[in-house]
Amino acid sequence: MATLMTSTGAGANSIEQQLEALQDFQVIAHRGASGHAPEHTLPAWQMAYDMGADYLELDIQMTADGRLVVLHDETVDRTTNAEGPLQDYTLAELQSLDAGSWFNDANPDRAQSAFEGARVVTLDEVIDRFGTQTRYYIETKSAERDPTLEAELMDTLSDRGLIEAGAVVIQSFSQDSLLKVKSINPDVPLVQLVWYYPESEDSDTLIEWTGVTPGPSAITDADFEAIRDYAVGIGTNLDYQGDAVIDETFVKQAQANDLRVHVYTINDIPAMEQLLGWGVDGMFTDYPDRLIRLTR
Ligand code: G3P
Ligand code: CA
Repeated sequence: MATLMTSTGAGANSIEQQLEALQDFQVIAHRGASGHAPEHTLPAWQMAYDMGADYLELDIQMTADGRLVVLHDETVDRTTNAEGPLQDYTLAELQSLDAGSWFNDANPDRAQSAFEGARVVTLDEVIDRFGTQTRYYIETKSAERDPTLEAELMDTLSDRGLIEAGAVVIQSFSQDSLLKVKSINPDVPLVQLVWYYPESEDSDTLIEWTGVTPGPSAITDADFEAIRDYAVGIGTNLDYQGDAVIDETFVKQAQANDLRVHVYTINDIPAMEQLLGWGVDGMFTDYPDRLIRLTR
């Protein structure tokens, strides 16, 4: 069975090894191998693990009773058999839902009976399954809504020894959230997520969702340096509705400012090949198997 890139040793040495590994190309399994199995479920992560992804990507949110669960959307509508805001559900209520059958209905060609009844899982359950020798790329998803999210997350990671093991990258669109994480533990590698899109319909001018940088055509070394002050990398979209928002110049400029560039969410082989040609440092993909075939 293929294994994820592992950390050896403990403490500073392991984090150094992690930072060194981040200089190489990283295959980041977006919500697990979510092209093959229901996203954010144990079958999806197990597939990504077995394929040999470098990182398991997961989005963290908080339940009504303050537990950290792994789910992307603010509501349970799309990926379970229920409806309503996730924050209205207790953990027990969430875990009574079926988070797998929707995938079979939506993807009959990839359906498996094993996916039926797949459960929403906690961060602890993911760590229990894959341990401290696996690397996790964790997004603080509901940071604005849950002001204690970062403290809870860092408590969990610290209790499990994951940060010292060099096993975690924390990513967020929220700069505030990343700075909160850094104030709790300055050693954990951070990635600033950005999303570029046109400022209005029919406009060619791109802006960034939270304003953390200007649009790519206006971005300067100083903008990248400001991110480098707290983060090791930038995670960016490649396109907006099929039109590219970044180019090779953006990638090279970020890298010249000592930022790794990880691009989401790349599922098509031609796009993977284009980005590899630009020299990006990693990609988030629902199909880690495709990207691994191209890069190893
Ligand atoms: O975390 C990178 C990428 O996953 C961001 O987009 O919406 O899939 O969380 P999203
Ligand atoms: Ca994410």
